[in-house]
Amino acid sequence: MKTVRLHRAETSETFAEIVARRIERRAFLKGMAAVAPVLLADVQSLFAQEEAASPNFNAQTPDKLTFQPLAMTQADTVTVAPGYTSQVVIRWGDPLFPNAPAFDPAKQTAAAQARQFGFNCDFVGFFPFERDFRASSNEGLLVVNHEYTDGPTMFANYKAAEATKEQVDIELAAHGLTVVEIERSEIDGWRYRIDSGFNRRITGETPCAFTGPAAGNELLKVSYDPRGLRARGMLNNCSAGKTPWGTVLTCEENFNQYFANTSKLPDSDPRKAMHNRYGVTAGASERRWENHYSRFDVAKEPNEPFRFGWVVEIDPFNPLSIPKKRTALGRLKHEAATFAAAYDGRAVVYTGDDERFECMYKFISKGKFNRLLREENAKLLDEGTLYVARFKDDGTGEWLPLIGGQGALREMSQADVCIHTRTAAQLVGGTKMDRPEDIEINPVNGKVYAVMTNNTQRGTSGRPGTDKANPRAENKHGHIIEITEADNDPGSLQFRWEILMLCGDPTVEKDGTYFAGFDRRQVSALSCPDNITFDNQGNLWIATDGMPRNLKNNDSIYACPVEGPERGFVRQFLTGPSECEICGPEMTPNNETLFCAIQHPGEGGSIEKPLSRWPDGTSYPRPSVIAVTREDDGRTARVIGS
Ligand code: FEO
Ligand code: CA
Ligand code: CA
Ligand code: CA
Repeated sequence: MKTVRLHRAETSETFAEIVARRIERRAFLKGMAAVAPVLLADVQSLFAQEEAASPNFNAQTPDKLTFQPLAMTQADTVTVAPGYTSQVVIRWGDPLFPNAPAFDPAKQTAAAQARQFGFNCDFVGFFPFERDFRASSNEGLLVVNHEYTDGPTMFANYKAAEATKEQVDIELAAHGLTVVEIERSEIDGWRYRIDSGFNRRITGETPCAFTGPAAGNELLKVSYDPRGLRARGMLNNCSAGKTPWGTVLTCEENFNQYFANTSKLPDSDPRKAMHNRYGVTAGASERRWENHYSRFDVAKEPNEPFRFGWVVEIDPFNPLSIPKKRTALGRLKHEAATFAAAYDGRAVVYTGDDERFECMYKFISKGKFNRLLREENAKLLDEGTLYVARFKDDGTGEWLPLIGGQGALREMSQADVCIHTRTAAQLVGGTKMDRPEDIEINPVNGKVYAVMTNNTQRGTSGRPGTDKANPRAENKHGHIIEITEADNDPGSLQFRWEILMLCGDPTVEKDGTYFAGFDRRQVSALSCPDNITFDNQGNLWIATDGMPRNLKNNDSIYACPVEGPERGFVRQFLTGPSECEICGPEMTPNNETLFCAIQHPGEGGSIEKPLSRWPDGTSYPRPSVIAVTREDDGRTARVIGS
């Protein structure tokens, strides 16, 4: 490994030494905290358990949420509940390296963008450093996805049909992921460190490796990679998850939109139907990248779309590591990938396919997770079984294996299953859901929460009707399902489920809202839930995407207990600026800070006619990550209580 010096003048340790020390420390802490069946939902909850000294799997800690809920608002700013404050941590275009150019949108270049924070931040993951044998809540790495670009709010006088090569190159460089070191100080609050040796950008051009059953498959071979082993970049990384071995599982979602001209493939070419199944564009693509790069033109490079739609594992602690597209987890429009440990030590990853009438999945590794062997864990996600969820109307459900060569999949190889995952899921009878977004495990009660953001086509002409797990026709507000795996074991293949929440405006009778039986008159209206997280007391925090279409409210974050007398008591905590969505709610281990991404402020407008001027008051709104703390600096109280 190349030696990278860290920024700190006071340390003479090399980057590799510091990484090794941190990994050793992490492994040691995990060893202390681990009492099977401890739920290894993520590094953060693990350390939270360690802090709490007794990881009590089914404990219900009554800890009421105490903040005063916000009213609906359409202000072009970030509004937080009384007693809290927010600050911008990093914005689109902020330089990530000492020699990176300062942001100047009028003079932007691809080279500059590749060394600056990317566009449309989505997933936010905090990877704490360790201090004094504990996970720090004041310094660590922030890992952030850059899902997609929006020409009209990036470039003056932008016209998609005439997008220049220079603009396309900037957009490719604005996609992907950022790793950036952040720290919190008494004076400045949260700041990112421009001189950190950990800082890294991954873009739509960064080489990635394919691993697992589909690596090297015929359908992954293209003219510039005849072995089908090396992808060029990652695209449309929406949400993600963290593994206990310190990597991120970042998820390619709506990859179809980047490719053009499937209609030019002859009907006799089976790839035409395969691309249609994933919605790859028939004619010109939205951004017209195909005008400058043949790999985005299916007529010229018919296999390129098969090389996207994967879960990508990245080690943020090693800036030289190669991102790995883990094909065993299937090819679909992955929203997120959430890790859990089965009781017997196998790795489990939950993932949803965010499209109307698509399915929910989980992967269970063949090998077992060994918390002391980081390199071994890194191979866990290449071998195992992918399952699709079937929800039954009696409140039970099962995970159906997608094994090539068996049963309904006897005509498919395992590589086929990985590449044509939707087809396999349909053949075995996976339930068609209302756009599965985030899936997370509650670190306190061990239940799995799955978010269906909306599906306005449910029950319409020619479309599937309602079922008990997707109970509303023309479901414009979305819902959340609570799943209890048999024995509370993520490795189980049977589960029970119930509807936790039917979102909408509780004062509008026809919305048919339900908040786990809680008095509807007291809850905040919410619509289009997307990303979720849990605090250390097991309260559910919900970020929305698309609410302004349905309610007079900008997209927001809500909190809601899921146990005790206030189960279902939803309250609005934070509201974003105009035309944004809110992504990646994430807390520090001590719950003093809530991070989130303000994605696409002002979308639908343009530089000439901006719909948002957040955060700088300029005609260039800037997607940014913010940190929310209590006004008393969070040092005497947690985000969730007082
Ligand atoms: Fe990119 Fe499913 O939201
Ligand atoms: Ca999302
Ligand atoms: Ca989440
Ligand atoms: Ca969404």
